[in-house]
This record gives sequence, structure tokens and C-alpha cells, in this order.
Amino acid sequence: MIYAGILAGGQGTRMGNVPMPKQFLLLNDKPILVHTVEKFVLNPRFNKVIIASPKEWINYTQDILKKFQIDLPNVVVIEGGSERNDTIMNIINYVEKENGDLSEDDILVTHDAVRPFLTHRIIEENIEMGLKYGAVDTTIQAIDTIVESADNDFISDIPRRDIMHQGQTPQTFSMKTIKELYNELSKEEKEILTDACKVFTMKGRKVKLVKGEIFNIKITTPYDLNVANSIIKGSLDK
Ligand code: CTP
Repeated sequence: MIYAGILAGGQGTRMGNVPMPKQFLLLNDKPILVHTVEKFVLNPRFNKVIIASPKEWINYTQDILKKFQIDLPNVVVIEGGSERNDTIMNIINYVEKENGDLSEDDILVTHDAVRPFLTHRIIEENIEMGLKYGAVDTTIQAIDTIVESADNDFISDIPRRDIMHQGQTPQTFSMKTIKELYNELSKEEKEILTDACKVFTMKGRKVKLVKGEIFNIKITTPYDLNVANSIIKGSLDK
């Protein structure tokens, strides 16, 4: 079975002083989260679209789904976790509870609620490659040179730019595999795990790349919100 997991469990602290987590802020009169969920409900291959929100925002999430008429039978809202990876695990545990034991080809296409500009092609390729390889990351080739600084003071390395990529989402996983690998990690390993794909690479597993898009931005700061408004406006002007 094929599931979508919309990661909307964060508080958006880097957005600054706003009345609600950034996934609920408006972009062209519609919450960012709604823009994102609309992309997923348009794809008929998903058995379920699972949105994970902060506990205190679950009712609000349900209300906006209703308001924008995407409160469909295959769209559910559950509680997110305290870290992003906990939110992913909450979604997997929900699927397991609802549908019983997971099999290798039960895949979850996870996506940041605050990346509303993903495309149908990116979703399709995540599904195809997810079914084939069991782990997928969406990336674009690095545009700027990446400079490593181990002490955040002096350069420790300058990796070859032509093999550097910037991570986006979706990231797609076989739910059974990621759960098993994640549970093998120590508490310390889990704490330093900033990216879900790293669960696979830490264990020497392959992760297939799908090409992202430069406009598939993550809305993190007030500046990003301005950029997102320009992208929306540009696409409406066409
Ligand atoms: N996310 C989540 N559960 C968490 C933390 C983050 O589902 N416990 C989601 C966010 O809602 C967002 C995505 O992961 O859609 C990307 O994370 P990020 O941009 O870091 O979001 P926040 O944690 O909300 O932002 P900040 O770090 O500024 O507080």
C-alpha cells in the first residue's frame, strides 16, 4: 500500500512572532498546509494521506481541511511527535495500528507541510523509486559551493561541488525497513539524526535520488514566505 505522510508537527520558531505555526499561515488566501495536501489528494495512488499536526492544532487542521473541501475519507489528522523523526514514527505506528503488520512494499511518501510547490512528477517518481528501492530522497544539485567548517569558525574542507546535493522532500521509505533500522539505533544516535534518510545511510543501505526542483522551497523564515508569495503570484500571472 502507498501512504502519504504530511509532516506538520513543528512549531515554526524561525518564522518569528506569528500567531500560529507556519504551516497554517496563508499563501494567497489559503493555508500553506492546504496547498501541500491538495497536491497529494490529487494523486489517486495514495491509499491514505496522513497529516501529523501538533496536538493543540489537530482540531484546527480538521477545520481548515473542511473549509477547503479536502476533508476526504482517505485524509486523516493525527498527533505529531516532539522531533521531526518522532512525527514520522507516529505516522508509521498509526498505519501499523490501523492495518496490521507492515510488509516491505508498504511505502510512506513523507513530505514537509511547508513545501507547497512540489510537483506531480516528484510525487510519481518518489512512489516508483520507493517501491523499487525502499528508500528515496529528493535533492537538487548544489548551486553554491558547500564549505565545511567543523568549528563554525575556520574552513575544514571544501567538497567537490559536482557531487554535492541539497536535500528537499519528499523522502520515501519502506515503513517496515525504516522502523526496524530506527529501532536499532542508540539513544545518542537518534539524537544526532537530523535527516530520516540517514537512518539508511548509517546502516550502509542505499538511498535512491529523485530530482527535485529549485522552486520546491521549504518555508522557514519570513523571507521564505515572501519568496513563496512571489512564486504563487508568478504562477497565477502565467
Ligand atoms: N515537523 C514535524 N514534527 C516536528 C518538527 C517538524 O512534523 N516535531 C515538520 C514541520 O512542521 C515542517 C517540517 O517538519 O513541515 C520541516 O521542519 P522545519 O522547517 O524545521 O519546521 P519547524 O520545526 O516547525 O521549524 P523551526 O525549526 O523553525 O521551529
